[in-house]
Amino acid sequence: MDSVIKKAEKWMRIRFSEDKTGHDFEHLARVARTAAKLQATEGGNALVIQLAALFHDYPDEKLVSNTNLAKEELIKWMEGEKLSPNVINDIMRAINAVSYRGGSNPIQAISIEEKIVQDADRLDALGAIGIIRAFTYGASKKQAPLDYACENAESTLQHFDDKLFKLKNLMNTKSALAMAKDRHEYMQLFIEQLKKEDVIKR
Ligand code: ADP
Ligand code: NI
Repeated sequence: MDSVIKKAEKWMRIRFSEDKTGHDFEHLARVARTAAKLQATEGGNALVIQLAALFHDYPDEKLVSNTNLAKEELIKWMEGEKLSPNVINDIMRAINAVSYRGGSNPIQAISIEEKIVQDADRLDALGAIGIIRAFTYGASKKQAPLDYACENAESTLQHFDDKLFKLKNLMNTKSALAMAKDRHEYMQLFIEQLKKEDVIKR
């Protein structure tokens, strides 16, 4: 099991080496690490969780032009690794269930593996790392960092209210909720500090 995970890491490290929008390999590696921590307390199939975490952004339409082709590529790779059809199916389902899609993803996370990978991905948008990723993404889109609480403002700080501060209540597992609370509070402190510095008013 370890060797197929190592091979998957190596493959994804190469495929994601160029990305500067927050979908770098390190994001995948962090999601896999967080998912392993969640699995230790919540259970679930560790192989399914690790591979789904490492592959979860591969078929993202923001990264590839053909989502279905990317999914087929993943399936072929796993078949080549002699993974059972059931395991491959579970991994692909978890990948499909993980994305946020503005909170309206029609594919719900149902199994514990799906729930854990979704929680781990959402946790990576929170806390200190979440702040770094948001401003990195914003800069890559030439989005204004601030303009906070201006009506209809498209700023990175607005993204905190639009999405990031909502994620805590969307956690599937108890273990993830505990981590999300800590990260949520850290982000609130960050906003408080910006107010203290008279950068933003609310
Ligand atoms: P993932 O698919 O890894 O869950 P997304 O593709 O939705 O995440 O976003 C990648 C990162 O960019 C996340 O950390 C997210 O918070 C951030 N991000 C997404 N949209 C915006 C935005 N409009 N402004 C600032 N940050 C954003
Ligand atoms: Ni992700």
